[in-house]
Amino acid sequence: MSKTIAVIVGSLRKDSFNARLADALATLAPDGVRFNRVRIDDLPLYNQDDEQSPPAPVKRLKQEIREADGLLFVTPEYNRSIPGVLKNALDHASRPYGESVFPDKPAGILGVSIGAIGTACAQQHLRTILAYLDMPTLGQPEAFLKADDVLDDAGGIAEGSRKFLQDWMDAYLAWVDQHA
Ligand code: FNR
Repeated sequence: MSKTIAVIVGSLRKDSFNARLADALATLAPDGVRFNRVRIDDLPLYNQDDEQSPPAPVKRLKQEIREADGLLFVTPEYNRSIPGVLKNALDHASRPYGESVFPDKPAGILGVSIGAIGTACAQQHLRTILAYLDMPTLGQPEAFLKADDVLDDAGGIAEGSRKFLQDWMDAYLAWVDQHA
């Protein structure tokens, strides 16, 4: 059965390792699975005063998540947590109260860092937020990734990480099916 996965990358950087990984991950999915990279770079800073009249980028974000069968977060770690741009997007799409687009959307989390712990702290913080937002989130395998190991010079998946990421993708897509 065909399905759409909304992909949210927590970095706005042009040459982001996480964006490169997100693009490369799409090659590991079978035919019929569409990865839709959701834009978060044009969202305004969340302000509760504006909730009742959201601007077009917020409406688009919520619609694209509504239409998705699952959500895939690929994020760096900033100061041992998630980047503000990612939290901003989560806040927008969770509001107004009672109109969150997140409940019951199956989620997966991966992250690439230049540091040794591979975004472990950011991912634990993100799990706390996704639990509150009522999203069933794949627990295993965990994917704490180091840029040097996981990406090759051309920005694709390094040979040594291919099997691990393929196994991760298979587990994630099975998780999405389980929660369809
Ligand atoms: C970082 N970086 C970082 N790395 C890490 O492993 N743990 C951390 O807490 C932080 N903190 C942090 C804060 C800020 C503000 C920046 C800009 C960077 C380094 C980070 O891993 C590196 O910049 C990655 O390249 C960011 O991911 P993208 O943008 O390449 O996807």
